[in-house]
Amino acid sequence: MDVDRDPLWYKDAIVYETHVKAFADGNGDGVGDFTGLVGKLDYLEALGITCLWLLPFFPSPLRDDGYDVADYRGVHPAYGTLEDFRRLLAEAHRRGIAVLVELVLNHTSDRHPWFQRARRAPPGSPERDYYVWSADDRKYAGTRIIFTDTERSNWTWDEEAGAFYWHRFFSHQPDLNFDNPRVRAELLDVLRFWAGMGVDGFRLDAVPYLVEREGTSCENLPETHAVLRELRAALDREFPGRMLLAEANQWPWDVRPYFGDGDECHMAFHFPLMPRVFMALRLEDAAPIVDILRRTPAIPEACQWGLFLRNHDELTLEMVSEEERDYMVLAYARDPRARLNVGIRRRLAPLVDNARRRVELLNSLLFSMPGTPTVYYGDEIGMGDDVLRPDRDGVRTPMQWSGAPSAGFSAAPPEALYSAPITDPVYGCAAVNVEAQLRDPSSLLRWMQNLIRLRKQFRVFGRGSLEFVSGTNRRILAYVRRWGEDTVLCVANLSRHMQPSALDLQAFAGRVPVEMLGYTEFPRIERGPWPVSLGGYGFAWFELRAPAAARTG
Ligand code: GLC
Repeated sequence: MDVDRDPLWYKDAIVYETHVKAFADGNGDGVGDFTGLVGKLDYLEALGITCLWLLPFFPSPLRDDGYDVADYRGVHPAYGTLEDFRRLLAEAHRRGIAVLVELVLNHTSDRHPWFQRARRAPPGSPERDYYVWSADDRKYAGTRIIFTDTERSNWTWDEEAGAFYWHRFFSHQPDLNFDNPRVRAELLDVLRFWAGMGVDGFRLDAVPYLVEREGTSCENLPETHAVLRELRAALDREFPGRMLLAEANQWPWDVRPYFGDGDECHMAFHFPLMPRVFMALRLEDAAPIVDILRRTPAIPEACQWGLFLRNHDELTLEMVSEEERDYMVLAYARDPRARLNVGIRRRLAPLVDNARRRVELLNSLLFSMPGTPTVYYGDEIGMGDDVLRPDRDGVRTPMQWSGAPSAGFSAAPPEALYSAPITDPVYGCAAVNVEAQLRDPSSLLRWMQNLIRLRKQFRVFGRGSLEFVSGTNRRILAYVRRWGEDTVLCVANLSRHMQPSALDLQAFAGRVPVEMLGYTEFPRIERGPWPVSLGGYGFAWFELRAPAAARTG
């Protein structure tokens, strides 16, 4: 990834998301750390990823796994030191891997010195004003609660301040007051701190909620967008080429403004697409995917969607209708323990009953739909989860490097790890681990390496346009990606059974489809419908070669 030379590097990136604590333990204390992570960069390079997204690693009481920041400019001592982080940056860059870190703008931990100072400062003082206070808990009554399983209100009484403070997440995460110019200046300085060290991008956590206004939902407000434009302008001025990625769990038309006129965020996650991919698979019908992408507005040239199948949170079902939500829960979380807030706390492999073909099919979509894909650590080997653990801990277990009792994650015994490795017979580290899969040419890991290698050879996947192709069978999803001379046809069979379709590819008559994994030429596209058949959960990517360019014989 040539971050320095190509300002649009994030468009071609393959992102890998991990938590430092969960990846590799370098000092044997049972908690993953930067030293351990540096030792695994060769693994990530071989996997083919080009951007490493690190979950929060800052000093924190860890009541929300680090999203409760107590110091924006440090490293949690369990993970190492700032020096260790610098080494990680240098080593990642040496391998062409960009580093993306979290900028938790919306809130801090209640342990943060700003909050400690605010609650003691007199009402109306600039120090008190770092956060959002009220004498009663009826203000901003139109605002939904996000952590529905744990929080009853967005207000919590603070004895010391003698006032209620506002929080969109856990009550120990007071929201910062972005109407206060000092707060905006502080966060900008935090961004400068990390960008100055060489960090390539920032995931802007919980970005829709920065500003509150009476009579609104307190989400996506124009004032919030103004804050982002300020941040972006400074970044462009001082650190050109660095990237901002919005975490806005909203409908596509509400996310669209986070790109602005190319003057807010470079990237934003496409949240509503994700559950619809799972829905399409279960319904064996392409419609949910086609529908949401058709309703996704165009974005500025330099901007990019962030795509993912799973991440460190629950599979959120906020951006679906009530009916769809019921269906998803029925289809994917019959066990009530798998549910959390408005979502499902499961990893990729268990969501699809550990069916290899379905994992591959979903990844083929992730890697060929318009946007930059993110792989959640462990999903490349098909790791499992544990719904019995609290909150989202069940999808944040130690990376499974080997079949050893501590999963090759740590030299410490299993009982001394920050979280016990998964040990069940299907997904446990004895059955699912990197060491074994590297040795096995037909493993999921090897398959992922191969797919990533292929994707990286064609910039059309990261940069091209999208056109759906109509066909005679709803169970087969077909679309064309185009960028310059490159034209790629992607087809995916969402059914468990073999399916035929006849695709309308008239616009490409005369071209020869060449299947990209095996390099096999298929029958030339004629004026009439193009017939295609795919095995259960099969998929294929075809390069549509112009007649002269097609290989003969
Ligand atoms: C984001 C994070 C989530 C965290 C929340 C509050 O949604 O992804 O893990 O709990 O913000 O910071």
